[in-house]
Amino acid sequence: MHSTDSPSNLIVTGGAGFIGSNLTLALQEKFPDARLTVIDDFRSGDFKNLAGYRGDLVAQNLATLDWREKFGDEQFDAIFHLASITDTTNHDQFEQVHDNVESFRRLLNFARPTTTRIIYASSASTYGAVTEASTESNGAAPANVYSFSKVIMDNIARRAAAESPDWIIIGLRYFNVYGPREAHKGVPASMVYHLAQQIKAGQRPRIFKHGEQKRDFIYVKDAVEGSIRALDAHTSGIYNLGTGEARSFNELVDVLNKCLGTSFQPDYIDNPHAHYQNFTQADLTNAHSALGYEARFALEDGVRDYMQWLYGSQAS
Ligand SMILES: NC(=O)c1ccc[n+]([C@@H]2O[C@H](COP(=O)([O-])OP(=O)(O)OC[C@H]3O[C@@H](n4cnc5c(N)ncnc54)[C@H](O)[C@@H]3O)[C@@H](O)[C@H]2O)c1
Repeated sequence: MHSTDSPSNLIVTGGAGFIGSNLTLALQEKFPDARLTVIDDFRSGDFKNLAGYRGDLVAQNLATLDWREKFGDEQFDAIFHLASITDTTNHDQFEQVHDNVESFRRLLNFARPTTTRIIYASSASTYGAVTEASTESNGAAPANVYSFSKVIMDNIARRAAAESPDWIIIGLRYFNVYGPREAHKGVPASMVYHLAQQIKAGQRPRIFKHGEQKRDFIYVKDAVEGSIRALDAHTSGIYNLGTGEARSFNELVDVLNKCLGTSFQPDYIDNPHAHYQNFTQADLTNAHSALGYEARFALEDGVRDYMQWLYGSQAS
């Protein structure tokens, strides 16, 4: 696909999930004539996320899918690969690595002969415990097997791109994404969602002692925008997608209180997690130069937009 052409045939794996469904619906709006196909096995996704979707859906487990049998010689402009086990507390090492990595390998093997553009979800969790903004050239330090599976995906993506210089493979290291269509995730849904729900239920928002942990919270609309921009990138690479700002849990509670018209004090609880990312912040230099990406939603703006979507006019 030439970068000025509109794509006409696209796949989104994990399209019934949180980011995938937002991406699918945004692609449908931006490219109304494109043929869209979602592949998802609904292990964590939900069909309700795709209300209004006009495309096809293949319900298959990507870790065992035979792409060639399913799609034959069909040509795609790009494959967005967002499907993944996303519960970071699933410590089944075989399942996490097998399902996440083999799904990606099968997709790469299908796309290699036609050099079909691949845009896949990596993760900020690959950076592990850090204290300052992360750049993509920093070494990986996965603290759990979920992050480890993403590091292996990055490794095989780099190797595949190096072996086929004409093939564009883009990894996106999403930071802490929040926004519409994440409720199905349950416990792994964002802190923004959980704290908002606690506040709406009249409870003090529960955060880990003493709320000074900082995260780069990115609104899903920015994550989607950055992902779509990868359709036009000219070279393979792995890029951070965040806001570039690290905001504390205490600040998040303040922002939620303002948006919801409440004044709850945080309820500080012990952190049960031995390995916890106390700090995440994206260095966006590369995302800016390669994708032309800039976050449009500061935490205040994203939370306001999201609360409006979740609770409508009651959000005040
Ligand atoms: N949400 C975040 O903050 C965040 C941060 C960093 C990276 N990511 C990555 O972004 C992607 C999307 O995450 P999300 O938050 O939308 O999670 P999600 O759980 O809502 O979406 C994942 C989707 O993939 C599907 N899926 C999983 N394994 C599959 C398989 N083997 N075959 C077919 N379908 C499968 C699930 O059913 C689900 O619909 C994931 O790759 C995730 O690792 C998310």
